[in-house]
Amino acid sequence: MAIGKFITLEGGEGAGKSTQAELLAVRLRAIGLDVVMTREPGGSPFGERLRAVLLDATMPEHSALSEALLFYAARADHLETTIRPALAKGRWVICDRFADSTRAYQGTAGALDFKTIDTLDALVVAQTQPDLTLMIDLDPEVGMQRANARRCLQTNDAEETASHPDRFEGRAAAFHEALRRGFLDIAANNPERCAVIDGNNDAETISDNVWSIVKDRLQPGERK
Ligand SMILES: Nc1ncnc2c1ncn2[C@@H]1O[C@H](COP(=O)(O)OP(=O)(O)O)[C@@H](O)[C@H]1O
Ligand SMILES: [Mg+2]
Repeated sequence: MAIGKFITLEGGEGAGKSTQAELLAVRLRAIGLDVVMTREPGGSPFGERLRAVLLDATMPEHSALSEALLFYAARADHLETTIRPALAKGRWVICDRFADSTRAYQGTAGALDFKTIDTLDALVVAQTQPDLTLMIDLDPEVGMQRANARRCLQTNDAEETASHPDRFEGRAAAFHEALRRGFLDIAANNPERCAVIDGNNDAETISDNVWSIVKDRLQPGERK
């Protein structure tokens, strides 16, 4: 039975994850692959409801543990209803953020201990680890400038271009620096799964770099 590949994109706010997810999907579809684009938090009806809660800037303060549990609740449903069924049908899944974001946001930047995250991950993600994680690395100041410019575009896509920063975008520079460190640590500790991409290029150049990594590591032309 064909099993699809699972690719995740990670990185700070405005690093270019959503842009690169779209460009990668175009390339994979162009060679005939069946691609599912999804995102976290969200990616399923239940997960998207939790997304609204998790990103709500007016949410009362709560611990990194309670936050991580909500992220993993959303992730469990996302895996069960979207990701695993797609992979089982041989579809390629591109996910905009996944479990590494919990480790960077609630772990490195939020001070939740990694053992707790490992326990949740073993329970929820288990064998469905990404085949490839593209870590887009960018100075958070540049990323925030891009994210702010995106917000000012004010299109009809109410959430992604809302005029106010979400719960995470609005945090201090030190938080975003910690995030960047967190993602780079994950990549250094998981070199066989992760590839660090320099986000400080134009989108086309980054897309070319992403494509050469995907071709090299996952051989998308050869149906496996
Ligand atoms: N390589 C790039 N150079 C300059 N601007 C970019 C680049 N990639 C994306 N952008 C723009 O920056 C903003 C944030 O990009 P986006 O892909 O939404 O980032 P993320 O999903 O990581 O938050 C968007 O307005 C996007 O059009
Ligand atoms: Mg995005």
